[in-house]
Amino acid sequence: MTDGRRAIVTGASRGIGLAIAQRLAADGYRVGLHYRSDADLARRVLDSLPGEGHLLAHADLREPDAARDLVDGIATQWGGLDVLVNNAGIFEAHPIDETDFEEWQRRWTEAIAVNLVGPANVTWAAVRHMGPGSSIVNMGSRGAFRGEPTCPAYGATKAAIAAFGQSLAKDLGRRGIAVTTVAPGFVDTEMAAEAMIGEAGEIRRAESPFGRIAEPDEIAAAVAFLASTESAWMSGSIVDANGASYLRM
Ligand SMILES: NC(=O)c1ccc[n+]([C@@H]2O[C@H](COP(=O)([O-])OP(=O)(O)OC[C@H]3O[C@@H](n4cnc5c(N)ncnc54)[C@H](OP(=O)(O)O)[C@@H]3O)[C@@H](O)[C@H]2O)c1
Repeated sequence: MTDGRRAIVTGASRGIGLAIAQRLAADGYRVGLHYRSDADLARRVLDSLPGEGHLLAHADLREPDAARDLVDGIATQWGGLDVLVNNAGIFEAHPIDETDFEEWQRRWTEAIAVNLVGPANVTWAAVRHMGPGSSIVNMGSRGAFRGEPTCPAYGATKAAIAAFGQSLAKDLGRRGIAVTTVAPGFVDTEMAAEAMIGEAGEIRRAESPFGRIAEPDEIAAAVAFLASTESAWMSGSIVDANGASYLRM
């Protein structure tokens, strides 16, 4: 049952977040589309979504008040919230042997702010508008489990967001709120573009027996299932979406 459900998706003007917003709107959700950088692009995306009642909100998730206000602004207009998708994130290289100490500090601070504390703050605000049957879906990564040698802060924050989701699943189940994490491998977006160039890209495609990386729609399909009331019993799960490129028990 999805009709009329109200979902905030962070980082929804491009990449995986855009695919999630489009999928949820097509499924009958009202979508709260969050963006940071490009207001014109975000407005065009909002206007292109099927259905009605969609809303737009700007926030830099590094700013705690902005993260809270984005949720409160949308949820207050709707009179509640059923789904939060913590999708926005950054992936920046900082290999330990090639990064000076100042840069090392900056990369860790940024990754923690955007990939972990930002979603934690958005979630803090969201649960205050949610009732039974609501869902929180966090965007993790395969890198949390197999390691991210050139982006260790990314791997660490994605492991942390998965652990955050498990803690909240334990806490919020008593209120009928389900919390899950999706862990994709490489997905064809701007974030992955550089990594897919040339021979390195070929090697990465070959990691999956499908011989390719994911399309954003394929991740959106997993999120759509986890956002629905049908999947409440999945709460606490970390769902791999990596084309069998990395298998774990
Ligand atoms: N692509 C992959 O291979 C892959 C694999 C595994 C997991 N993931 C995860 O999937 C999620 C989406 O990735 P993507 O591939 O769609 O990346 P993307 O195309 O680079 O998009 C990143 C999104 O995050 C938002 N964002 C970045 N910094 C922000 C900040 N400080 N405040 C608010 N929003 C911010 C961006 O908003 P603006 O554009 O408005 O700045 C953008 O919407 C991320 O959590 C990523 O870690 C991606």
